[in-house]
Amino acid sequence: MEPILRVDGLSKHFQLHEQQKLIPSCINVSLEVYSGQLTALIGPTGAGKSSVLKCVYRTYLPSSGRILFFDAKGREIDLALASEHQMLELRSREIGFVTQFLHCLPRKSALDVVSEPLVARGAGRESAREKAAELLAMLNVPERLWGVPPATFSGGEKQRINLARGLIARPRLLLLDEPTASLDPATTDRVVEPIETIKAEGVAMLAIFHHPELVRRLADRVVELAPPVVATELLETCAH
Ligand SMILES: Nc1ncnc2c1ncn2[C@@H]1O[C@H](COP(=O)(O)OP(=O)(O)O)[C@@H](O)[C@H]1O
Ligand SMILES: [Mg+2]
Repeated sequence: MEPILRVDGLSKHFQLHEQQKLIPSCINVSLEVYSGQLTALIGPTGAGKSSVLKCVYRTYLPSSGRILFFDAKGREIDLALASEHQMLELRSREIGFVTQFLHCLPRKSALDVVSEPLVARGAGRESAREKAAELLAMLNVPERLWGVPPATFSGGEKQRINLARGLIARPRLLLLDEPTASLDPATTDRVVEPIETIKAEGVAMLAIFHHPELVRRLADRVVELAPPVVATELLETCAH
């Protein structure tokens, strides 16, 4: 089986011009993600986990390495070199990203916020709302909140709206950056079922989980990142 995503020797650093310093954010990361499987990124805070996801989504422009993505037409695209236009296209059709935070808080009901990505892909409003309701129930969002705009929701409630919005669209590759960080253990447990459902439907996921329990239950592969300091020393040792 061929992976849908192959990251090969990915590094990202930031240049601090005033101090003439290079700040590494991830160093020499290689990993693979397959359709219907979840690859988990683990490692201490600051190890560069979020930076890897941002490079794949191209929020960050990688400094070196390759990010080979195989699109729906079977073409191989190096996301490290893809144009902005190509990235916008891929983000609208094939690659999704769920962070800890719900960024857009329009004056729309939670149900509409969640069904929006499906409607954008051509689904009927009613069937999209039915799927959204199913997901909200699965994630244990109280029904009294479904008709209310999420702006006033608690952190954990917003986080579940955000996750539902990411899960509903079934992108071919879904990036998850600590989507359960502010959930209690019982609620965290509720995310296992919808994630397993989309895995069974063939969605590939590259995920960072705050809860080791979720890595244990959901990951098909685990990739551990060393903190940049250690990785820098390793690189220097190798160079000598
Ligand atoms: N935009 C940025 N500018 C400067 N440094 C950054 C930036 N993004 C990440 N870093 C640095 O890269 C390192 C890795 O960060 P991050 O990828 O967020 O790690 P993790 O998600 O594993 O906690 C940190 O030291 C962080 O300060
Ligand atoms: Mg992070």
